[in-house]
Amino acid sequence: MKERLKELRETSLAAIHSAENTAALEQLRVKYLGKKGELTALLKQMGRLSAEERPVMGQLANEVRSALEDTLEQCRIRLEEQALARRLEAEALDVTIPGETHTPGHRHPMYIVLDEIERIFIGMGFSVLDGGEVETADYNFTRLNTDDAHPAREWSDTFYFTEDSSILLRTQTSPMQVHAMESRTLPIRMIAPGRVYRKDEVDATHSPMFHQIEGMAIDRGVTMGDLKGTLNEVVRRLYGENTVTRFRPHHFPFTEPSCEMDVQCHKCGGRGCPTCKGEGWIEILGAGMIHPKVLQGCGINTDVYSGWAFGMGLERLALRRFQISDLRLIFENDVRFLEQF
Ligand code: DAH
Repeated sequence: MKERLKELRETSLAAIHSAENTAALEQLRVKYLGKKGELTALLKQMGRLSAEERPVMGQLANEVRSALEDTLEQCRIRLEEQALARRLEAEALDVTIPGETHTPGHRHPMYIVLDEIERIFIGMGFSVLDGGEVETADYNFTRLNTDDAHPAREWSDTFYFTEDSSILLRTQTSPMQVHAMESRTLPIRMIAPGRVYRKDEVDATHSPMFHQIEGMAIDRGVTMGDLKGTLNEVVRRLYGENTVTRFRPHHFPFTEPSCEMDVQCHKCGGRGCPTCKGEGWIEILGAGMIHPKVLQGCGINTDVYSGWAFGMGLERLALRRFQISDLRLIFENDVRFLEQF
């Protein structure tokens, strides 16, 4: 029996060591240690041994069992590690393969200009607000002191959603003045860029959808001097130190006094050329001191507070900035055009 135990130990350990995977190991465990296994079968024969032999053989059999168990466990760990190593190697990324490249897109020229303008105003302490393009006639006109008979309210000029002319696509970013007065605490310094809509036929200078930037500052003791100082500084940062500007009186329902701001034509230096249509000046924005009725309509005490506001067309600035001759290029999104910026 001693011989058979020794033999079993040798053959089983050799088999375990040469097992190639954990499934084979499991089969060997069953073969030797299982209920119908070879070691179990040997142990069943112990009854036939003499009383002196039995404990000696018992101890030997136990040693064989634990040797088998230890070796099975060691081999299992080793095989699992090997399998993992093989998998890691097989699934490893080859970082030397050239990646897929995506050609980065281009900033749209209009947004290049908008970014610049936003940066200038943010540097002056203004916030940038966002507003909805669907407005009520109340915010778009009435609360901006625009009376019921004003031509801008005509169905031929404005896109309405409702028969009663109460809901529309905003025709200007100016309603953002009212929204800002309602939602912010004083003092307010804000700009609000966004899309506006008017029933215009598409041509080189018109589009039914275009962009404006509204601007507004309300504080104690704000004057027309602040308006001119701020806008002159913005224009100089945008177009260069030596840009010449002028302010002309104008009329808007929501400002009093109102003005328009021109920059001297960069092409002809004010002498008059096709770019400025012979004028020598190019109009860039409308502005003025916010009408007391507009301020009061938002609950602002006009004995204490005053403010200025402006609205400028973004496309026109971008056209001028990049010397683009046709507004339609801005909206057509022809990649050959956009790639140039
Ligand atoms: N909303 C005017 C327009 O679309 C532009 C404008 C003029 C805005 C004067 C203002 C302003 O804020 O004060 O023509």
